[in-house]
Amino acid sequence: MSSSPPEQDPPPEGAPAPDRKARARLLRERAAAAGTPDRWCEDLYREAASAPELVFWGDRVPNPNLTARWEAWSRDLPAHPEVLVTGAGYGDDAAWLADRGARVTAFDVSPSAVAAASGRFSDRPIRWLAGDLFAPGLQPAAGFQLVVEVYTLQVLHPGRRAAAIASLAPLVSPGGELWIIARGRDADDDPGELPWPLLRSELAHLTQLGLVEHSFEDYFDEETPPLRRFVARYRRPETGG
Ligand SMILES: C[S@@+](CC[C@H](N)C(=O)[O-])C[C@H]1O[C@@H](n2cnc3c(N)ncnc32)[C@H](O)[C@@H]1O
Repeated sequence: MSSSPPEQDPPPEGAPAPDRKARARLLRERAAAAGTPDRWCEDLYREAASAPELVFWGDRVPNPNLTARWEAWSRDLPAHPEVLVTGAGYGDDAAWLADRGARVTAFDVSPSAVAAASGRFSDRPIRWLAGDLFAPGLQPAAGFQLVVEVYTLQVLHPGRRAAAIASLAPLVSPGGELWIIARGRDADDDPGELPWPLLRSELAHLTQLGLVEHSFEDYFDEETPPLRRFVARYRRPETGG
């Protein structure tokens, strides 16, 4: 008897590609129904130990929307800024920032993601934490000189966005910055499914929380197909706010 695995029929020509996000959506729905809305993240990262493709954002490279802006934007930061990376996933952005001299704290709600990230980048002096954006308990007295938020807000159901944004704002120190990279949409676009693109008006709430919008870019990236991105930069004034 042959020991080679059974051959599978190739998908019919023109058949839709399997949706890599389907498992995440199912796990999220189950977690939300159980009253633990972010539990799906840990469930997914655990399953990814044997099926890495399930973490559909896990490309294991620093985010190009971040790296493209660092040189220009970091000129306004102090040398070796104290940086917080929210929803850090597999840790590539945190490691990239640490390599540029930032003193980095990185957290994620999934302990498995944190374990994977800290294992991958054990040679970097990064403070890795399992923590929840809604109750991070991470804020040093003075806040962080830079908070980097990449693609976490968009995995939170739109009904939880305002609370998440309210949690982000106080993490920024006086004179500090918040950089947000997210999928974007207009109010009359279909809100879609996880990941839910953000509305600019949701982010505008940050200005009621003491931050000032420094720049806001709204563009289609170079992915296939191109995705609409918001890349926004906020500052907390030195005094007041
Ligand atoms: C789409 S992934 C992005 C990960 C990483 N920022 C990246 O760009 O590769 C969203 C991340 O947010 C994390 N996350 C979701 N809800 C969270 C919460 N309430 N607090 C902290 N992290 C959360 C997930 O575990 C996941 O790693």
